[in-house]
Amino acid sequence: MKKIAGKNVVLIGFMGTGKTEVGRLLAASLHRYLVDSDRAIVERVGKPITEIFATFGEAYFRKQEKEVILDLCGQSGLVLATGGGVVLDPQNVEALQKSGFVIWLDASVTAIEQRLDGDESRPLLANIDSLRALYHERTSVYRVAAHVRVDTTDKPPLAVVEEIVKILCQQP
Ligand code: S3P
Repeated sequence: MKKIAGKNVVLIGFMGTGKTEVGRLLAASLHRYLVDSDRAIVERVGKPITEIFATFGEAYFRKQEKEVILDLCGQSGLVLATGGGVVLDPQNVEALQKSGFVIWLDASVTAIEQRLDGDESRPLLANIDSLRALYHERTSVYRVAAHVRVDTTDKPPLAVVEEIVKILCQQP
């Protein structure tokens, strides 16, 4: 794990792939602080994500997101759980890659649909015609941004954490 000592462990991936829950458990397991970029945005703006989108629009949210990400990338030794759209900005991707080891949490699109069924906390879901289309559109971006991919389909969060810890231990 020498390679990642002092670096951030970054979780990226589509909505519903478990970044927040896996991040929480992973941080506990590695004795690191967890920072969730969505939560940091909510604290900064003082409104929940749905209200930020409704009041100020997506572009404003993305601007806040970028500032939060660039700020967090200046810190080290964190587990950093990110929002599903951070990879849309190439500067975010570059900063995340430089700041640490980037893990793409993925799941089958069917599992994601099931996990997000009835979710009202994600404004993007209300504004898209097809979750599948967005998932496929984003897949190539996650692939390029990440150092490794971990499939979370049908796996409890703790099993995903164990898999990640193994991967981290294999880093020279
Ligand atoms: C978004 C994902 C959300 C949140 C916002 C936009 C996206 O985070 O940042 O609603 O563009 O995919 P989660 O991936 O944690 O749901």
